[in-house]
Amino acid sequence: MSSAYSVVNTLHSYWAYFTLIILVIAVLNALTGYFKNKDFTMAKDLRVSLFALIFTHIQLLLGLVLYFMTPRFDAWQTGGVMGDSLLRLILVEHPVTNLIAVALITIGWSKHKKEVSSKRKFGKIALFYGIGLVLILLRIPYDIWLA
Ligand code: HEM
Repeated sequence: MSSAYSVVNTLHSYWAYFTLIILVIAVLNALTGYFKNKDFTMAKDLRVSLFALIFTHIQLLLGLVLYFMTPRFDAWQTGGVMGDSLLRLILVEHPVTNLIAVALITIGWSKHKKEVSSKRKFGKIALFYGIGLVLILLRIPYDIWLA
């Protein structure tokens, strides 16, 4: 097992905690702002949403690099990816679901910027980041992550 793979795998594995925590904070913050009709502030609300966006993008980049480094990638040559639930999760479901999730989060960020009212800004973040977070949580390889 190459050491470069181990480094990227470890980074992707630990960065996931920060990404998920900041995403949960951003979604809860947006829901609170939306339902309590708060003002959308630069100092807090914009910053929390932007941090979540940046952390998610870094996680995505690490994932993309990891994809081509993992020894599991060889299974595309040897075969049997779709018939093996762990290989299918790691090589297909997890990457595809997370690419969609990060795209949704990025769309949510762009859409919130075009809104003028605080309520609609919070609404866009809550909806798009919320769906993105749920998608990510649905397809994490928990067995190898928490092992
Ligand atoms: C953006 C949200 C993402 C999150 C929160 C996330 C999280 C995780 C976690 C927690 C693991 C288990 C790590 C471990 O073994 O300890 C993992 C594994 C993996 N992830 Fe991601 N990931 C994300 C995106 C991606 C993307 C977009 C790709 C590829 C395009 C990717 C590729 C991989 C691969 C290949 C593994 C397995 C590596 C191996 O065990 O050899 N991830 N991911």
